Parts: sequence; structure tokens; C-alpha cells
Amino acid sequence: SKNLVIAIDGPAGVGKSTLARKLAERLSFFLLDTGALYRVMALDLLRKGISPEIPEIPEELLNDCDIRIEHENAQMRLFLRNEDVTALIREEHVGIAASKFSMRPEVRRALLWLQRRTAETGNIVAEGRDMGSVVFPWAQAKFFLTADLEVRAWRRFQELTDKGIKIEFQDVLEDMRARDFRDRTRSESPLVQAEDAISVDTTHMSADQVLDRIISIIREHT
Ligand code: C5P
Repeated sequence: SKNLVIAIDGPAGVGKSTLARKLAERLSFFLLDTGALYRVMALDLLRKGISPEIPEIPEELLNDCDIRIEHENAQMRLFLRNEDVTALIREEHVGIAASKFSMRPEVRRALLWLQRRTAETGNIVAEGRDMGSVVFPWAQAKFFLTADLEVRAWRRFQELTDKGIKIEFQDVLEDMRARDFRDRTRSESPLVQAEDAISVDTTHMSADQVLDRIISIIREHT
């Protein structure tokens, strides 16, 4: 396709969402937050009474998940059967279910076309776990963000605490460790750095420093 794709991958809590949003704003690209799509799918399955532990998810249930994306500048609104679920999918239990459901090849397959179709509507910043490796192997720029586990857990802890959510740091840390393990060890599209991705360690960087770094790399390469 003639449209530009910037792929941003990395583990949970590494700062992908913040970077992707700021980058999309700066470049006037659409934002494609693919974690949000896994969350909508998880919400739909939970509502259908499907547990993440079910041995096999019936194909017709996956095909029947009606997701619509609306782009507003660098923001995404998500609709499930015409219901705006943008806020709902941020709930912790939906995130945990998304992490478990996303291990399944049938779930990943069901979301592949939706992700690729977005790239046909305009230039995009695509953010997730397998953007550069599987979904958009042809992306013109690929970034792989990393940061120490404790730092990622700390950022996530602050984010939740700022929202007024009462939670223990130790629980956030353990949840993040478990998510990392599931992301890296699943057989279908595990979290791996694409061969041609540029890796950026954000452990000691602020969100704005990461943005500046990425923009200067993009300028150097184009
Ligand atoms: O990034 P976020 O926490 O919103 O993603 C929810 C879950 O979806 C993650 O825990 C991750 O396991 C999964 N995911 C994925 N592939 C993507 C994006 C997210 O497996 N491209």
C-alpha cells in the first residue's frame, strides 16, 4: 500500500501508547492501538460467557465480534456492536482477559484483517506486540521499545494511582511479570523484535525524550 506505517512494539508498560499517540499527533497520522482491539474482543467474549481458559473458542463467536474504529485526530474511539466501549475496555479485568485471549491463534487471526484495513485509510502509527514482525512487515519504520521490568511496573503503578485506583506495587509488578511471560512465550506471534526494527531502551528516558529520539531517527532515515 502507498500509505506509511510506523510500527511500535514492546512489552507492557514500556511507554508505547504515550509515544504512539504523541507521534501520531506530531505527524498527523492515524493512531492504531492494537491492544485496544484485543481488549474489545476480550470484552465481547467475556460478555458471551466465554472464559479465557476454554479449550477452543468457536469460530462463529470470533467472526461475530463487530468492532468499529473511529479516528479523531490522534485518538481512537472503539465501538462494539455500535456501543462506545472506549472507556470500558480500560478496566483491569478486561486487560487481563485480553492478555490471555491474545495467546490464541484463532483470536489473532480474527483481528489481523481489521488491523491491516486501517492502513488502507491513511498513514498510521501502529502500536502493539507484533506490528513490525507479523501485522505490518512492510512498515517503513519499526521501533522496539524496552525498559527494565521494575521501571515499567513503577510507571504503571503511578498511572493507576493517579487515576485514584488503590493497588499495591507488588501486585502490579507480579501482573506485569505474568504478562511479559505470556507475551513472550505464546507460540503464535510472540513478542519478538523484528530483524529490521530499531530498539530504544526507555528505562532512563522521559516520554518527551523518547518522542524526540524517535522523531530524530525517522528524520535520519527519510
Ligand atoms: O497494550 P494493552 O495492555 O492494551 O494490550 C492488551 C493485551 O493484548 C496485552 O496484554 C497483550 O497481551 C495483547 N496484545 C497482543 N498483541 C498486540 C497488542 C496487544 O497480544 N498487538
